[in-house]
Amino acid sequence: MTPNILVTQLVPQPAIDLLKAAGEVELNPDPEHVYSREELLERVARNDYLYSMLTNQIDEEVMAVNPNLKVIAQMAVGYDNIDVAAATARGIPVTHTPGVLTETTADTAWVLLMTVARRIVEADKFMRAGRYKAWGPMLLMGTDVHGKTLGILGFGRIGKAMARRAKGFHMKVIYYDEVRAPAEEEQALSAEYRPFDDVIAEADFITVHTPYAPSTHHLLGEREFARMKNTAYVVNTARGPIIDEKALVKALNDGQIAGAGLDVYEREPAMEPELRDMNQVVLLPHIGSASLETRTAMALMAARNLIAVIRGERPPNLVNPEVWDRR
Ligand code: GLV
Ligand code: GLV
Repeated sequence: MTPNILVTQLVPQPAIDLLKAAGEVELNPDPEHVYSREELLERVARNDYLYSMLTNQIDEEVMAVNPNLKVIAQMAVGYDNIDVAAATARGIPVTHTPGVLTETTADTAWVLLMTVARRIVEADKFMRAGRYKAWGPMLLMGTDVHGKTLGILGFGRIGKAMARRAKGFHMKVIYYDEVRAPAEEEQALSAEYRPFDDVIAEADFITVHTPYAPSTHHLLGEREFARMKNTAYVVNTARGPIIDEKALVKALNDGQIAGAGLDVYEREPAMEPELRDMNQVVLLPHIGSASLETRTAMALMAARNLIAVIRGERPPNLVNPEVWDRR
């Protein structure tokens, strides 16, 4: 029987080609249309191989509509939209796309950091509005990035990629992670481990690179913003709910921190409406890994994970390896 594959949003063509060579593909042709719950359930019911995006919740109800569901191959490194425990209980392998988006996501975080610090979006709007009348000694002064202290929360692949970038800017790098990096790695990256509360209190720029999990829900909230320097900037390219977005708005309004660069939001695609009118924030629509090269690499990686399952081979990027290893 030909394997039936559901691809929930349009992805770069090389991945589609690969999937089409491996089975019958039902493709949502619109990259921006997110299936409603009903649309998703109906399609999962008739497809055994699910190629998923972070825009759909894949929970017990979704898995239950198709008792033959063979794999959930997510095109993202994060998989907090998937109930992995439920998948594991059903023996369904879940895969993701680690590694390939590390550098691009760090680039995005770096862009946010630079852009918010140097008021680049304001300056661009200023030009477009025809407001540039004369060079001004006080015009659009921002804050320096070089020589400052970067605080990295979550010292995994992307957090470490940030430390590498910070080196070129002669920044002091401090980090917190549940797991401390080996001494030689700290040395190579010139990164110093600090308790969480010290990182947020000492850093001029605080950048978040943890996964989203119950333990990182509202990692930054009222208490944390109060501890930060009032000249500090916060950057988030990880997951929205890691930051208490209402508390962030309040901290920005009250001048407890200087600004923020955000790629992700607590209730995506919505955001706290007050953010829209704040000049001290830079806002992106979750494009952390959105380069053609990286999205193509992610799409191919997800496709290869899915195809491995079709072939009865162990998929390379399992989130729940126990499902495979106990077979
Ligand atoms: C994107 O947010 C991802 O997790 O890859
Ligand atoms: C995630 O941390 C990645 O680099 O893939």
